[in-house]
Amino acid sequence: MEQTIEQIKTSALQELEKASDTESIQALTLKYLGRKGVVTQYLRNISQLPVQARPVAGKAANELKQFLDNSFKQAIETIESGLSLSVDQLDVSLPGRTVYAGSYHPVTQVMHQICDIFARMGFDVAEGPEIETDWYNFEALNFPKNHPARDMQDTFFVTDNMVLRTHTSPLQIRIMEKQQPPVQVIAPGKVFRCDSDLTHTPMFHQVEGLLVDENVSFGDLKGVLTAFVHQMFDEQTSLRFRPSFFPFTEPSAEVDILCVICRGDGCRVCSHTGWLEVLGSGMVHPAVFENVHYDTQKYTGFAFGMGVERIAMLKYRIDDIRKFFENDIRFLHQF
Ligand code: PHE
Repeated sequence: MEQTIEQIKTSALQELEKASDTESIQALTLKYLGRKGVVTQYLRNISQLPVQARPVAGKAANELKQFLDNSFKQAIETIESGLSLSVDQLDVSLPGRTVYAGSYHPVTQVMHQICDIFARMGFDVAEGPEIETDWYNFEALNFPKNHPARDMQDTFFVTDNMVLRTHTSPLQIRIMEKQQPPVQVIAPGKVFRCDSDLTHTPMFHQVEGLLVDENVSFGDLKGVLTAFVHQMFDEQTSLRFRPSFFPFTEPSAEVDILCVICRGDGCRVCSHTGWLEVLGSGMVHPAVFENVHYDTQKYTGFAFGMGVERIAMLKYRIDDIRKFFENDIRFLHQF
């Protein structure tokens, strides 16, 4: 007998390892356990062994026969139940899963950029509550009692006297109540309006700016905002100040920038005007100064407020504001 039981077992198992379909396992069964199979042959040859060795060899051979029979049957079952023989083997050739590093939300990134630009111009950063009293959100900002912005359609009311702030302008009052001029501050944060479409969401972000001192002029407002726009976009992005109305500024101006898409030629984004509105601004109304007990003879100031999503949409050419809030990781990874 050339081969020992152990050798037969080892080579049978090695061959089984490589067998990947039912037919090759059936062939193995024949090769080892068939009538002329290796194990069968071994059993037949036991009679040639010395008498004392026969019982041990017979027992081992029968055990191997049983063992291989089970192994082959099981292997066939595994294949037929659809599982791979190598199911718990590690496929080292599989490409690894990419682990993405987290990053700031694009709106947060743009808010940081805006704040950085103003911080370099000497502005402090302040924050305030998102739920405001009527006084801070409206009354102190010189909103007449019947002003349309107080209408239920725009404002989320918490109680008769409490609202989700509709803008960051209440920060103007909160800051001036606490601090005498000179004041030079920006206030980023969430604001809420009952509004929802391609360019409006019920919650969005604003950055408010306020500068109060002696001899502050509209020219200072223009200078600061021009410097801001040139840094946020580029030097070629010119500004246009359009007369407007806010209860808390006089005179008031809306600021347009040259369309970032068509550069003034007219396109869908700028509704063929060549200009895009980006912020509201104006000289602080004396009635607001009176509400915070500032000397209106001594001080003047300007204020401005801009929508962060709006700036982000123009900067990154995003056409639907709702993309910012769907939290689709494929969208967010681009920033
Ligand atoms: N609060 C105004 C708005 O939300 C923007 C603004 C701020 C206008 C400061 C003038 C001065 O539309």
